[in-house]
Amino acid sequence: MYLAPVELLFEESRPGRRNWRTPGADRATATADLPAYMVREKAPALPELGELDLIRHFTRLSQKNYAISTNFYPLGSCTMKYNPVVNERIAADPQWYHLHPYQDDDTVQGALELMHDLAADLGEATGLPGVTLHPAAGAHGELTALMVLRAWLDDQGQNQRRTILIPDSAHGTNPASCTLAGFDVVTIKSNDRGLCAVRDLVEHLGDDTAGLMITNPSTLGLFEEDIVKICDLVHEAGGKVYMDGANFNAIMGITRPGDFGIDMMHLNLHKTFSTPHGGGGPGSGPICVTEELTKYLPTPSVVQGSEGFELSTPESSIGRVRGFHGNFMVLVRAYAYIKRLGAEGIKRVAENAVLNANYIRVKVNHHWRVPFDRICMHEFVARPTKAMRDKGIHTLDIAKRLIELGYHPPTVYFPLVVAEAIMVEPTETESKETLDGFIAALIQVAEEATAGEAFLHQTPRNMPVSRVDEAKAVKDPQLCFRCQ
Ligand SMILES: Cc1ncc(COP(=O)(O)O)c(C=O)c1O
Repeated sequence: MYLAPVELLFEESRPGRRNWRTPGADRATATADLPAYMVREKAPALPELGELDLIRHFTRLSQKNYAISTNFYPLGSCTMKYNPVVNERIAADPQWYHLHPYQDDDTVQGALELMHDLAADLGEATGLPGVTLHPAAGAHGELTALMVLRAWLDDQGQNQRRTILIPDSAHGTNPASCTLAGFDVVTIKSNDRGLCAVRDLVEHLGDDTAGLMITNPSTLGLFEEDIVKICDLVHEAGGKVYMDGANFNAIMGITRPGDFGIDMMHLNLHKTFSTPHGGGGPGSGPICVTEELTKYLPTPSVVQGSEGFELSTPESSIGRVRGFHGNFMVLVRAYAYIKRLGAEGIKRVAENAVLNANYIRVKVNHHWRVPFDRICMHEFVARPTKAMRDKGIHTLDIAKRLIELGYHPPTVYFPLVVAEAIMVEPTETESKETLDGFIAALIQVAEEATAGEAFLHQTPRNMPVSRVDEAKAVKDPQLCFRCQ
């Protein structure tokens, strides 16, 4: 059945009551004030579809998306976990989204209190009391912290210190942020245990060292066992230690970076503290710093005054790094998540994230090569065995085969220190049944790869598109409908 489009006009006929009606004879009245050239002479040629057909079309399109709400997503380093629906409800409350950042402080006390309390909770969890909620993502947090470091160095009369040391297992954003902040990057090697090589670090420390940027747990899913010694060495050399805290979900509630010598770090609220972030956003990357560095944080920060919460500018602030107060709705979700779980719940999140990663690791390590095969943190890195590689099967073939079997592939070809890496992060939110299903798929693919099955080069065979030129897809996207 064809349903004609119905033009509806909104009418406030009675106070407090909304009536909907068709314009009919009132069209002339409704358009009377418009210039003649703006009034349509005939109805627009809209596609004529039944409502049900339209709904089915959009539902089918939405089902082409792969999402954490439909399937398992073991994307290492990305922490694609389930995000409680209650957080979405809380963030969607009109009391938040009707606020305007230019409102007077006394009309937004609740929002200011939320930011103040969230900053205090993050300061407590990290052991680094100075917190800014402004940065829009992890990488932006890195840049902000490096600007803070630059301001501190200037104050110390140490602006000849231009070098940041970064272990070779780091996320690509680390060296990129350094370059953007005007520092030079020197790479520190990993040792044979996959950890930051202390000997190499010592060789590179000097009068030009501004600091070390270290990810802990690292992108290999390993805790830096020498972290206290590493921090001491950098401090003795006159630098500061920045921790990339994107993997904080493995250690929160168990240890605090401020207690093991870290001076500054970022958190990815959209990973660790619950915000759906697939496809690049929205994010939030607060940084937490020591008392000494707090005065350099971006403006404004929220403080508690005698009359309530108010905005203030830290004494030697680096200025603004973002409009207004950061990605506020992500802050609301993080606040809801932390308050609901409490300190004990946060600790259990970390314990379960670690347990789940280790469960998968020990179930598959006889089928895959796991280069650092010992207790891991929230993720582990595997790679195809020599037998598989000798048969010409590569990580890409394996990732594509997993798509066929209904799984989003893990992160592949990263970190760069492991050739043909497959990086698995199950997160704390998955059930044993889901993990067992994924383990079975990994073992099945390992057997197929060891047998050198030729079809692995054609996978995925059940998708609208199979192998795409990913570089071309980024550089030359075809976004139009029914492109010629
Ligand atoms: C270890 C690590 N550092 C930094 C980042 C950058 O965070 P963002 O993507 O929020 O900029 C990520 C993101 O996945 C990461 O895994």
